[in-house]
Order: sequence, then C-alpha cells, then structure tokens
Amino acid sequence: MNNSIPFLDLVTQHIEMEEEIVETFRKSLRTAGFIGGPMVEDFEKDFAHFCNAKYCVGVGSGTDALRFALIAAGVGEGDTVITVPNTFIATTEAISQANTLIEFIDINEKTYNIDTEKLKEYLETQCYRDEKTGRPINQSTNQPIRAIIPVHLYGQPADMDPISELAEKYNLIVIEDACQAHGAEYFSRKENRWKKAGSIGMASAFSFYPGKNLGACGEAGAVTTNNEEIAKRIRMIRDHGQMKKYFHDIEGYNGRLDAIQAGILGIKLRRLADWNEKRRTIAYRYNELLKQVDGIIVPYEPEWSKAVYHLYVIRTQRRNELQSFLAEKNISTGLHYPVPLHLQKAYERLKDKNGGFPVSEKTASEILSLPMYPGLTETQQLRIVESIKEFNKAD
Ligand SMILES: Cc1ncc(COP(=O)(O)O)c(C=O)c1O
Repeated sequence: MNNSIPFLDLVTQHIEMEEEIVETFRKSLRTAGFIGGPMVEDFEKDFAHFCNAKYCVGVGSGTDALRFALIAAGVGEGDTVITVPNTFIATTEAISQANTLIEFIDINEKTYNIDTEKLKEYLETQCYRDEKTGRPINQSTNQPIRAIIPVHLYGQPADMDPISELAEKYNLIVIEDACQAHGAEYFSRKENRWKKAGSIGMASAFSFYPGKNLGACGEAGAVTTNNEEIAKRIRMIRDHGQMKKYFHDIEGYNGRLDAIQAGILGIKLRRLADWNEKRRTIAYRYNELLKQVDGIIVPYEPEWSKAVYHLYVIRTQRRNELQSFLAEKNISTGLHYPVPLHLQKAYERLKDKNGGFPVSEKTASEILSLPMYPGLTETQQLRIVESIKEFNKAD
C-alpha cells in the first residue's frame, strides 16, 4: 500500500471534476474559441463578484497581473516600489519589469507579512517629502516612492488599515499581491467591516498557478480592481495595447487569459468557498494537535484575519532535520521560501547585506510547510503530527 502523504494532491479533485473539465475543453474545441470570448468574460464576472470587486481582468499569470497592475497605475521609470523580502520572486520581478526600483521592508515575526511599524519608520526616517506631490523620496537614492505591494503570504491578509493610512498620508498606490489569498478576508477596524482580499488596494494580483487555492490546469492570473480606468488600461496592456483589433494606443504584452483555463477556473470557483473552509478546518486541527509539541510554533491568525491557508507553515529551530525525518516517513513538506529575496544572487546589485532584514532571515531558516489541501484527512494529519512527536523523542 502506498503510505506516502503528498504535500499537495490535485489529482483527486481533478478526477472528481473530470467530466465538467473535459466538457469545457470540448466546448472550446468545437467553437475554436481559445482566446477571449464568453468563457473568459463569465469567469471575470464571477471572480470579481467572489472578491467583492467591481472589475476583474483575466491575464496570463500572477506575474503578469502584478506587472500590468503597476504599469496601469502609472508606476514606472524612476519610481520605487516597497515590498517584503519573504515572497516569491515574481513580486519583485514585476517591480523590476515595470522599470522601477525595489525597496524591502522587513516582516512581522508573528504574521510573516509586512511590518507596518517598520514601514512607518522607514517613511518617516529614511525619506524626505516631495513638497509638490507629498510623496516620500528615499534619502539615499533620491527616487520617489510610488507604491507599496503588501503580500498576503500563505493566504493571510497583510494588516491593511495601517498600510492604507500611510498610503493616503504619503500619496502612495497600494497593489495587493493576493496570489496566495483567494477568498481571504480582512477586518478593517477603521471601516468596521470585513473586506475580501482583492478589494482593498487600488488593484490586486491573483495567480491561478495549478497549486493555488484556485488553480488552473496551466498558467493563469487576474487583476481585480474597483477602478474602471485601471481595468480598462489592463485590458489594453494584456492585449498588445489595443482596444480595437490592430489599432494600438500603446505597446502592450501578450498576456491574456486562455478561454479553456477560464472555463476550468469557473468550474473550480464554484467549489472555492467550500475548499477554503476545509483548509481552515485542517489548519485549526493542526494547531490543536501541535499545541503541546515542544519547539513548534504554529501559524498566528490575528482577530482581524480570516486566512485561507494556501500553506500551513510551522516554525522550528531544527527545520532541516525535521524535514529530512518526515521525508524518511514518506511525508512531503516544502519551504516557502528558503532564501529571502535580498540574499538571492539575482539581487546582488541591491547590496542589501545579510542582517539587513533580521526577521525575514530568521524565519527563512525555521519555516516548514506541512501538507495542506482540502482533501487531507484527519488520519493523515494524525500521522504527520505523530511523526513530528517521534522526531522530538528521537533526540
Ligand atoms: C506571492 C506570489 N506572488 C506572485 C506569484 C506569481 O504568480 P504566477 O506564478 O502565476 O506568475 C506567486 C505564485 O507563484 C506568488 O505566490
């Protein structure tokens, strides 16, 4: 009997939906509708509704979504964009590809998202104000800060109230990186209401990479926004800068969402709320089971957050040993992410040395993502936790 526990199981859920998915493919084949068309439009409408956003524009990937959102918001050459070092490199690739500079702010040790106190301190002490625009100018580069990309990492929203407040004060644009947070909710103390990830910033980027909470059977992404002008610009940018075929107002990209992927995403979207609930149940069961286990820190979910647990990430000082031990027991785990971006070879040019972002550096060496997907059973979870306890005893 195969007793391995995968990190993620997509096959079981695809088998359950196989007939519907194949039917979508058949529909595209028989109409030759592969690019644009009703399947894309229907999905965009449904996903905007799911996020409580006015508009959704389907694009080729989450990376496209971030890049297009920055460009559409008018962020460009000579500007600086703030984000965190503990994210997938796509966040910063998009910043560079929009011809802007990257500025990192460290994370909060409990939420793993941007530390809003450090963000405030950076704006107050490392920048001076441009009198005309009100924007902060970085003292060492003399470049204006134009935007912040808070990342809702692992499916937990960043603390958006203080971010929005600082953005308002300093005339900054907020683009949510919601690539891991489909359906996550944030309680705004300021507005006294819950808000969906993807409805808070000027625009938000989603990835539908297959392993995401809502995943395509290939590459896909979307931007959500309440701003009509931004939505209109992104529709142009994703389609070679044209609104009308062969009439190009600007140079754009080939960054459209495939009709087949949109059709598949529509099928999965109907199940997303239920899958997210299952993920939350699994996360709370892990929390309960791991409560008494020495040396393990479980995820922290503040009262203002309804996380959707794209990943369930624990921390332990003996991370590498535990990961190898679990692998011997046929339990797959992941590291998200093992090297903070400022220490990646790709960013040597930034000269952000080791020690510059101590929380990101510390957590990167301690985090371990345990198996997490809606179909993970209680029996499997018990075995995972028993194995962690066994590891502790083996000392
Ligand atoms: C936080 C984050 N940002 C951006 C992306 C980029 O998305 P994609 O892989 O669809 O380009 C991902 C997903 O891979 C992600 O996890």
